[in-house]
Amino acid sequence: MKQHDRDVIVALDFPSREETLTFLDRFPEEKPFVKIGMELFYAEGPDIVREIKARGHRIFLDLKLHDIPNTVGRAMAVLSRLDVDMVNLHAAGASEMMRAALEGLRRSDGTRPLLIAVTQLTSTDAAALKNELLIGTPMAETVLSYAKNAAASGLDGVVCSALEAAGIKAACGPDFLTVTPGIRFSEGEAGDQKRVMTPERAASQGCDYLVMGRPITRAPDPAAAYRRAIRAFLNR
Ligand code: C5P
Repeated sequence: MKQHDRDVIVALDFPSREETLTFLDRFPEEKPFVKIGMELFYAEGPDIVREIKARGHRIFLDLKLHDIPNTVGRAMAVLSRLDVDMVNLHAAGASEMMRAALEGLRRSDGTRPLLIAVTQLTSTDAAALKNELLIGTPMAETVLSYAKNAAASGLDGVVCSALEAAGIKAACGPDFLTVTPGIRFSEGEAGDQKRVMTPERAASQGCDYLVMGRPITRAPDPAAAYRRAIRAFLNR
């Protein structure tokens, strides 16, 4: 079995460079793996990616691409040159788009960022699936089918709920990565996340990467909260 890094990824859900760097300055010792999403990227552009990379962080660029294969392939080539470590797209773009994305990501030295698929957004409920998207298949089956398409297209893994991770591993193989948001230190601190899991439990479910935002970004001592997550998830 391939050895993958398992890690905690801190979601930098901030609107500006200033707030982001002020937050990162609160980590005097560690350089957490971080996630940059649409809000920060659209506000600050590629320079914020370069700046955070230069500070020594690994970066998951969470832009969820979804377009025709040629456009996605070319956009992925641009993102790959930003030297990010992980990027994503919507599996709903189908296998030709996913293969074009992989191709675009490959760098001249043979390396590439990890490519992760979003299956069904967790904000899509069963009613929207049936009545708006006209998908009659139950959500759990749709998610598994999207995950299998992503695996067959050569992608590295999916974003999913920690509750789905074990089923996805069983269907797509143990090396297929599960990147899981909705992580909380204990029940009762869920906020707007409906289906949550603790880092300890996520580890026992075989999750590879935990995405954690508010439990770390809004903690009185973010570095301590981060270390708590790492201890709980990686047992170190
Ligand atoms: O603050 P919290 O820990 O809920 O943040 C989770 C992060 O993961 C946010 O950046 C959110 O946008 C992202 N995310 C999610 N659920 C998904 C996909 C991504 O919460 N299904």
